[in-house]
Amino acid sequence: MHDGTTSTHDNLTAALMHKNNAPVFLLEGKVYELGNKEGYRQFWAIYHKPPKAEYRNYLLERRDSLIPIDERSFKGAFYTPLNVVDKAYDKLAETLGKNWQKEYIVWDMCSGVGNLEVKHSNPRNIFMSTLDAADIDVMKATKTCVGAVKFQYDYLNDDITDDGKIDYP
Ligand SMILES: C[S@@+](CC[C@H](N)C(=O)[O-])C[C@H]1O[C@@H](n2cnc3c(N)ncnc32)[C@H](O)[C@@H]1O
Repeated sequence: MHDGTTSTHDNLTAALMHKNNAPVFLLEGKVYELGNKEGYRQFWAIYHKPPKAEYRNYLLERRDSLIPIDERSFKGAFYTPLNVVDKAYDKLAETLGKNWQKEYIVWDMCSGVGNLEVKHSNPRNIFMSTLDAADIDVMKATKTCVGAVKFQYDYLNDDITDDGKIDYP
């Protein structure tokens, strides 16, 4: 999303730079060299740099496919396709009634990049948390569900005690 000069989105965590005439990435103040130059070349043989507007959000939403396959399987980091989202909304309306988006507060505890919430018409009723802070950054940069509360949280290692007390700070 960065052509070496300008960025298509504000506040993305990575920027493309050049060092000794080779592309490198600047991530949180540290410079990273490419792990796979051929993969990089093949990727940019398909997309323009930066990608055309119609592909940008799609690429950011599919960052799950860039995670190594073993880490991806361990975390269940697979994005939710939009036809599955449609089906889920049908089932929620069937179960909770057609006004569920107004009447219920939703907390998606493994929201990834938020595909399950983009269809929701009342983002102020949504809380979204997920394991990887980078997914939260993507949602902020792509302005996904702007009115929703978003935060990094590991719900399998939560801060709720055995007797149900929550450490709010
Ligand atoms: C099936 S994906 C959800 C996809 C999401 N609906 C989307 O479209 O991006 C499951 C998500 O849960 C996250 N996850 C895995 N373990 C978690 C944990 N312990 N706490 C919070 N999130 C977790 C993964 O990183 C992944 O983004």
